[in-house]
Amino acid sequence: DKVLIRRKSSGKIRDKSKCNVENVVRPFIVKDEDYKKLMGVMLEQFENGLGKDTNSTAKVKMFPTYVRDVPDGSEEGDILALDLGGTNFRVLLISLNGQEVKMESKIYVIPQQIMLGSGTQLFDHIAECIYKFMKDHKLMDKKLPLGFTFSFPCKQIGLDKAILAQWTKGFKCEGVEGEDVVRLLHEAIQRRGDIDVECLAVINDTVGALMSCAHEDRNCAIGLILGTGTNACYIEKTENVGLWDGDNDEPHQVMINTEWGALGDDGCLDFIKTEYDRQVDKHSINPGRQVYEKMISGMYMGEIVRLVLEKLRKNNLIFQGQESEELKSRGRFYTKYVSEIESDEEDNFTNTKQIFKELGFEKVSDEDCRIAQHVCSLVSTRAAYLASAGIAVLLNKMGRPEVTVGVDGSLYRFHPHFHDLMVEKITHLVNPGIKFKLMLSNDGSGKGAAIVTAVANRMRGQKDE
Ligand code: GLC
Repeated sequence: DKVLIRRKSSGKIRDKSKCNVENVVRPFIVKDEDYKKLMGVMLEQFENGLGKDTNSTAKVKMFPTYVRDVPDGSEEGDILALDLGGTNFRVLLISLNGQEVKMESKIYVIPQQIMLGSGTQLFDHIAECIYKFMKDHKLMDKKLPLGFTFSFPCKQIGLDKAILAQWTKGFKCEGVEGEDVVRLLHEAIQRRGDIDVECLAVINDTVGALMSCAHEDRNCAIGLILGTGTNACYIEKTENVGLWDGDNDEPHQVMINTEWGALGDDGCLDFIKTEYDRQVDKHSINPGRQVYEKMISGMYMGEIVRLVLEKLRKNNLIFQGQESEELKSRGRFYTKYVSEIESDEEDNFTNTKQIFKELGFEKVSDEDCRIAQHVCSLVSTRAAYLASAGIAVLLNKMGRPEVTVGVDGSLYRFHPHFHDLMVEKITHLVNPGIKFKLMLSNDGSGKGAAIVTAVANRMRGQKDE
């Protein structure tokens, strides 16, 4: 009898503590009806961005790009590309020849003091990296066209003219907002005077993902990034684009860079935001902005998890009274940990234990690991589902029977379940009869920029003849 009673009571204690953990994490479980409500809100905001009279006050800007069509496979030539705005800054050399793509690239570090410094410093640094790359790859005697993947919200006024609307993610360089980033790049190149490159095209990374996937799959009509930030672009009919001032000729369509990360900046996502989202926002370099992005992307996900774990720890629901200065430090819990923790098997928490040891916890129990895994999984699942709602809105809006979504970004690439979670949720949310595929884009930022630049270069050649 005694044994039974003890079992019962210890069972109760466990249930009670689990219940508390559940209470802390509950806000991350978003109801299906709320995902549907979100889709309605998103569609409305997309329409506002596209509308001529509503665009100026819209938060989601729906920028028309100057890219009208997917590649036809005839793109060729040697092209330099820059990729700025993701996890790494890279310079690439790409040789296109029909379906064949050869690529060399090098990562260069952008120190944080430059990310938060002046625009001149930033572009001088970029020009110096181009110089180093050309020197190392023995390209100094060549005149190469350059494609610039600049992954920030820009109003394009030409394929080679992009006015930065606002910095996002970890960048905040003085004197760039409102300016044409191609002009700033060219000025930095001229200040050096030792390299001969001309930027012919600037694209967003979403457009790069779309273009590079479309190179293999002609059904590709959406580009999605789930990395440091999140954003999507898609192919829209020009008749639906209020701000379109280009021609109405074939192909009657243009790629739209939605900049959906800014969704919620007018408060329309408050109904699903948690206290953790509000804290992340408050301590970011751009409070009040990029609300949807902060609930989804890699720059913020680790921090959301950290805040939840700290709350559980303070309430003695995890780590049995131990403290860790590291877990208390803002930004110290990386999003890659979320992927690593969720990759652990139920019965062996190798990664999870390793991570918490690194963070300074001496004793990490299996129960601690289980709770941490649960937190990670709820936060990443919400992210995957939120992004799915966005994709479902675009799929429904386009109404094509079959669409491939080209996806890039470190979060999607390295998280063990993101792909499957998204397929499940989009299937559930999309209109019946629409088929879709999520396709990993390999090096979209480089390849996409090269494809667009190759076309621009060919057209320029034709004009000169
Ligand atoms: C941010 C940028 C956007 C980019 C996305 C993914 O949301 O504003 O331009 O596409 O991050 O890198």
